[in-house]
Amino acid sequence: MIKYWQILKQYKISLAVCPLLVLITVLCETIQPFFMADIVDNGVMQRDLSVIAERGLVMVLISLAGLGFSVLNVWVASRASTGFGTDLRSVLFDKIQRLSFLDIDRFNPASLITRLTNDISHIQQVVLMSMRMMLRSPLMLVMAVFFVVRINTQLALTLMAAIPVLGIGIFIILRNGFPYFLRVQQKIDQLNEVVRENLINIRIVKSFVREDFETRKFVRSSEELRDIVIRASNIIVSIFPAMQLVMNLSIIAILWVGGGKVIIGDLQVGELISFVNYLAQVLMALMLLSMFIMATARASASSRRVLEVLYSHPSLTDAPQRPFGCHRVRKGEIVFEQVAFRYAEGETDVLHDINFRIFPGEIVALVGATGAAKTSLVQLIPRLYDVTWGEIRIDGIPVKEYRLEELRQGIGMVLQQNILFTGTIADNLRWGKSDASMAEIEEAARLAEAHDFICSLAEGYNTLLGRGGINLSGGQKQRLCIARALLRKPKILILDDSTSAVDSDTELKIRNNLNQILQDTTVLIITQRVHTMQSVHRVIVLDNGEVKAIGTPKELMNTSMVYQEIFNSQQILD
Ligand SMILES: Nc1ncnc2c1ncn2[C@@H]1O[C@H](COP(=O)(O)OP(=O)(O)O)[C@@H](O)[C@H]1O
Ligand SMILES: [Mg+2]
Repeated sequence: MIKYWQILKQYKISLAVCPLLVLITVLCETIQPFFMADIVDNGVMQRDLSVIAERGLVMVLISLAGLGFSVLNVWVASRASTGFGTDLRSVLFDKIQRLSFLDIDRFNPASLITRLTNDISHIQQVVLMSMRMMLRSPLMLVMAVFFVVRINTQLALTLMAAIPVLGIGIFIILRNGFPYFLRVQQKIDQLNEVVRENLINIRIVKSFVREDFETRKFVRSSEELRDIVIRASNIIVSIFPAMQLVMNLSIIAILWVGGGKVIIGDLQVGELISFVNYLAQVLMALMLLSMFIMATARASASSRRVLEVLYSHPSLTDAPQRPFGCHRVRKGEIVFEQVAFRYAEGETDVLHDINFRIFPGEIVALVGATGAAKTSLVQLIPRLYDVTWGEIRIDGIPVKEYRLEELRQGIGMVLQQNILFTGTIADNLRWGKSDASMAEIEEAARLAEAHDFICSLAEGYNTLLGRGGINLSGGQKQRLCIARALLRKPKILILDDSTSAVDSDTELKIRNNLNQILQDTTVLIITQRVHTMQSVHRVIVLDNGEVKAIGTPKELMNTSMVYQEIFNSQQILD
C-alpha cells in the first residue's frame, strides 16, 4: 500500500479537489426533490403558475450547476487515475526488469503480462471510482436521509429500516465472491500462457498440423475462464434483484403509510412525491456503493498479485557499490570450483561437482549430448542464474563480487535461441554497445560474416526486422547475434551452439575471423560440429551434468570414450 501512496501522492491536488466536487454535485442533486415538493404543494395544488415557473427555473439552474461540477469531477478523476495506472505500470515493469531468470520462471511470464495489464486496470478503475463514488454514495445517503427526516420523521424511520438490511445483504454476497475474483485472474494467466506459447511456436504448430489440437486447448482454457467468470458474476448479480426487492417493498410501505397521512391531512401530496424521489436516490446511492465495493473486491485480488511482484526480493542481488570503483573483467580467466546447480523447481541437480580452469585467451569447446547441461553451465558465468553450491571466479574474483553490470559488460554471450528485437539491423547490433559508431558496427558484422548479406538487402543496415519488417533465416539471425556480442569487444565470449544454423563454410570463416582478432579473448563454444571441436585449444566433455574429460582434441581422441562417441556420431552428420 505504501507503494500505491508513493505514486498517488503526485496527484494530491486532484485527490483533495474531488471530494469537494462530489459534495457540491450531491448537494445539487439531493436538493431537487425538496423544490419538487414546494412546486407541487404551493404551485400545482394552489394553481399558482408563477411559483411553478420561478421554482422551476431555480431547479434547472441547480441541475446545470450539478452537471457542470459532475463533469469536472469526472475529468479530474480520470486524469489522476489514468496517470496513477501508467505510473504503477512503469514501476512494476521496472521491477520486472530487475528480477532474475529464476524469479521470472517462478512468476511465469504470462502471469506477469496479466499483472501488468489486466490487474493494474482493475486497481486503476478503483482509484477512479474512489474519486467519484466513494464519497458520493454515503453523502447522498446522508443528505437524502436528512431531507427525509425534515419532511416526516415517522416515514423516515420506515426508509431507514431498509438500509441495514441492504448493507448486510451486500456484505454477505461479496464475502462469497472474493475467492472467485482471484481464480478469475489465475484463469486469465492460464489463457495468456496458452496464447503466448502458441504464438511463439506457431511455426512448429503449423508444420506438425496441430492447429486443431491447439484450438481445442485454447477453447478449453477459454471455457474454463468463462465458467469461473459466470460463477463470480452469478454471485454479484444476485445483489441487484435482492436490492430491488427490498427497495420496492419499502416504496409500498411508504406509499401505504404516507397515503394514510395525506388523507388525514398530516402530509402534503408534494411531500409524499418528494419522499418517493428521495427513496429513488437512496436506491441509486446503494447501487453505486455496491458497484464500488464489488470493484474494490476484484481490485484487491488484483492488488495482491501486483504487490506480490513489487515486494518480491530479487533472488539474485547485485554486489554492493565499492568506494574505490568496482571490479572489471580484465583478463578473462574462468575458474569453476566444486560448482553444483539446480533450477528452482527442479528436483535434482543438473550440474554436479564441476571443476575446471580456462586460461585467458584460450578457446575451449564445451561438448556433450542434448540435456547434458551445457547451456545451464554457461548461464552461470554471467550470473543469469546463481550457483547452488561452489564458486565461479573470473580473474580470481568470485562472480558475486562483480557488479552485475560490469560482469555482464565483460562477457559477450550468444544464446542458443537467437533473439532479435523489432527495429532496424543497426539498432539490434547497437544492443551490444549503444554508442557504437557505424564503422564499429560494420566491423563486427564483417567478423560475424553478416556484412555481405546485410548489404544485399535493399535498405542495408537500416532494414527493419520484426513487426512490419523482414524475416531473416535462422543462420542470418545467428550471425547478427554474434555480431551484436562482438561489438562489445568482450573479454569472454560465450557461443551457445550459435552457429548451428550456419553452413559449415561460413562457420569456418567466422571461426577464422575470431581467431585472428580475438587473441586475448577467452572463448567458450558449445558445439556439435566436429570441425569446431578439432580446432580449439581444449575441449570439456560434459555428460549428464558432470565433467567427463578435459584436454586437447588429440588427447581426448585417445583417452575419452564419451568424446569419441560424440565425435563419431557427429562426423556422420557433418
Ligand atoms: N529453466 C529451466 N528450468 C528447469 N529445468 C531446466 C531449465 N532449463 C533447462 N533445464 C533442465 O536442465 C537440464 C540441462 O539442460 P540444458 O542445460 O539446456 O542442456 P543442454 O544445453 O546441454 O542441452 C535438462 O534436464 C533440462 O530439462
Ligand atoms: Mg543447450
